Order: sequence, then structure tokens, then C-alpha cells
Amino acid sequence: MDTYKTIKERRSIRRYKDKEVPQDILKKCVDAARLSPTGANLQPLKYITVTKDLEKVFDCTNWAGYIDWEPSSKEMPRAYIAMIKEEDVGFEPDVGIAAQSICLTATNEGLGSCILGAIDKDELESILQVPEDHELKLMVALGYPDERPELVEDRESVEYYLQDDVLKVPKKPLDSVWIKR
Ligand SMILES: Cc1cc2nc3c(=O)[nH]c(=O)nc-3n(C[C@H](O)[C@H](O)[C@H](O)COP(=O)(O)O)c2cc1C
Repeated sequence: MDTYKTIKERRSIRRYKDKEVPQDILKKCVDAARLSPTGANLQPLKYITVTKDLEKVFDCTNWAGYIDWEPSSKEMPRAYIAMIKEEDVGFEPDVGIAAQSICLTATNEGLGSCILGAIDKDELESILQVPEDHELKLMVALGYPDERPELVEDRESVEYYLQDDVLKVPKKPLDSVWIKR
């Protein structure tokens, strides 16, 4: 798929079907993350793929802070990629760049994804047995989407909302973020 089209199509998905995520797609997502740019090419990240203990992991996540709703356990992600970073190595943007690589690869494979920063890091580090010299930075939730959020152009508000059970996701219009000199 054309990269711009994939970027446009990708939405954060918070309701998933009860369908396993194939290991080869998880492998491709980790490979895409591995190939992503990192400051000074330090490559400080590692990736834990998670397809077991899904309920335990789900209990350590928080969803859709702007709205009074969260996915039920039936709708929970069917896989996660935990992004861990070697302590005191690398640059802050590295993890975000690699997370986007995972999400775009997942989109191309027909999967939904959601980057998760509002997580119980200590509990997850224990559940996932993160090595002592690494810290958990982000989780990426994955699974087959059971919703189709829609973009809306909005100059004023950044808060997504549910309308007729469809998540509407505001994005600032191009002319409001594009500065020409
Ligand atoms: C660093 C980061 C952390 C995020 N953490 C969460 C989270 O903990 N829970 C959640 O439901 N969404 C989380 N999101 C998803 C954002 O809410 C979402 O990207 C935003 O609302 C825009 O929607 P879109 O991804 O569909 O474009 C996170 C996104 C990023 C980039």
C-alpha cells in the first residue's frame, strides 16, 4: 500500500475481534521497528511480543481518556508488542518512531493497533519479565479491528468523541499546522 494512504488509513483501534494475531505478522512488525531510524544509530530498543496472559496485560492498560468508555474484555487486544529500552541509552524520539513503524506495518496487514502510554509500567515490567537494565517505554496493542473510527477536521478541539457508537477523531486542518517561510 502507498505510505501516505496507510498513514491516512491508520487509526487507533480500541475494539478488537476475538481472532488470533498470526506470529508472522508480529515478526514483521518487530522487523519494521528494528529497521526504523534511531539517534546515532544506537538501536536501544527491544520488543517483547505478547500473546499469552492477555487479560493480565489488559488490566494494566487505560483507554480513551477523553470519553467515558473503555473496551470490554471481549473487545480486548489479541496481542501486544512491549517496547523496552536499554536504560541511559538512546534518544527519546526513538520509541515513537519505532511505534509508528509497528502501527503502519500492522495497518498494511489488516490489523488494528493502538499505542499505549497510560500503562501500569511496574506491573507490566514484572508480568513481562523485562530485564533489569531495560525499562518499558510503550505498549502497542494489536488485533483485528472491530470498529472504524472516523477523522473529522477540527480547528478547536483535540478531544475524540463517540457519535452513534462511531469514534470521531479530530485532526487539525492542514492550513492550521503548515507554516511557510
Ligand atoms: C505516545 C502515545 C500514547 C498513547 N497512549 C494511549 C493510551 O494509553 N490509551 C489510549 O486509548 N490511546 C492512547 N494513544 C492513542 C491516542 O489517543 C491517539 O493516537 C489519538 O487520539 C489520535 O487518534 P489516531 O491514532 O486514531 O489518529 C496514545 C498515542 C500515543 C502517540
